[in-house]
Amino acid sequence: MPLVTSTELLAAAEAGNYGVGAFNAINMESAQAIFKAAEEERAPFILQVTQTTLGYTEPEELVALIKELAKKSTVPMALHLDHGRSFEKVMQFLAMGFTSVMIDGSLTEDGQGPRSWDENVEVTCKVVEAAHAIGVPVEGEFGMLGQIGGDLKGGEGALTDPDLAAKFVETTGIDILAVGVGTTHGLFKGKPYIDHERLKQIDAKVKVPLVMHGGTGVPDEDVRQGITEGIRKINFDTGIRVSFIEAVAGEIHAIEKEWDDADKSGGVRKYDIRRVLKPARAAMVDAVRDRMRVFSSSGKADLGGACSAKADPAKAAERAREAEVAKVLE
Ligand code: 13P
Repeated sequence: MPLVTSTELLAAAEAGNYGVGAFNAINMESAQAIFKAAEEERAPFILQVTQTTLGYTEPEELVALIKELAKKSTVPMALHLDHGRSFEKVMQFLAMGFTSVMIDGSLTEDGQGPRSWDENVEVTCKVVEAAHAIGVPVEGEFGMLGQIGGDLKGGEGALTDPDLAAKFVETTGIDILAVGVGTTHGLFKGKPYIDHERLKQIDAKVKVPLVMHGGTGVPDEDVRQGITEGIRKINFDTGIRVSFIEAVAGEIHAIEKEWDDADKSGGVRKYDIRRVLKPARAAMVDAVRDRMRVFSSSGKADLGGACSAKADPAKAAERAREAEVAKVLE
């Protein structure tokens, strides 16, 4: 199935009042797990990659794998850059065929400190101009998310101000807005406090779909309530990592016992990487499926008929052929 843009997925989610999961992939197993979960749940989804992931693997290698998986997928999905931090980085991902990008202008390029309003607006506008020229929607961020292991409330100043958020969307022309309403990236210390009042106020003033970053550890009832208050994209990463690492740790523990037994009985130790990776991949499938159900995106693969032409591979192929013929006739 051809990739769609995040705008198409989020418009259908708005019409159907559900949330679309945006799941981070860093390697073959996590990408495969996300596609498998979506296929089993019949859930539209966003697969996202951060620019820092690409310090771990060559961009083209991971993206080529994801595109292969997308060809076989029978549910609509968008390929999204998560937390692009500079104009240049976003351009690199657009050149690789991403159908959605985020410019996180709320933080400096190294992610260590806040950018000023003017700096955020400047870099976001530049990205919007370039991405829109090729029909790719842009997610921007205004207000700050808490950081890994940080305090829960983060302070008033860190959360998104509804009036300024509306001004930010209008000034920059972004298509999707990431908001700070109390979530943090990574695991929470204790029970998180989600500022639903603020979220409702933002939704009343901002006319684009809203994003909940830091989806891991947000109680299901807060996620569901957030969806009724305008959240359409929910980012989920750490929960995938947790399921992977816990499964790996469990397998390694069992393997070490088997090695001990083999050593004692004069047997041979066995080394099979798949023994560890298979259950880890299965655990990631379960983690992603679980979120898709909570987001109510399960069973929404036809996007409510909103973009059935795009979701139909036969129609898409026909359109591609027509375009080829038109080129020859020119
Ligand atoms: P978690 O890692 O907390 O799920 O957040 C993911 C995220 O927001 C990616 O941008």
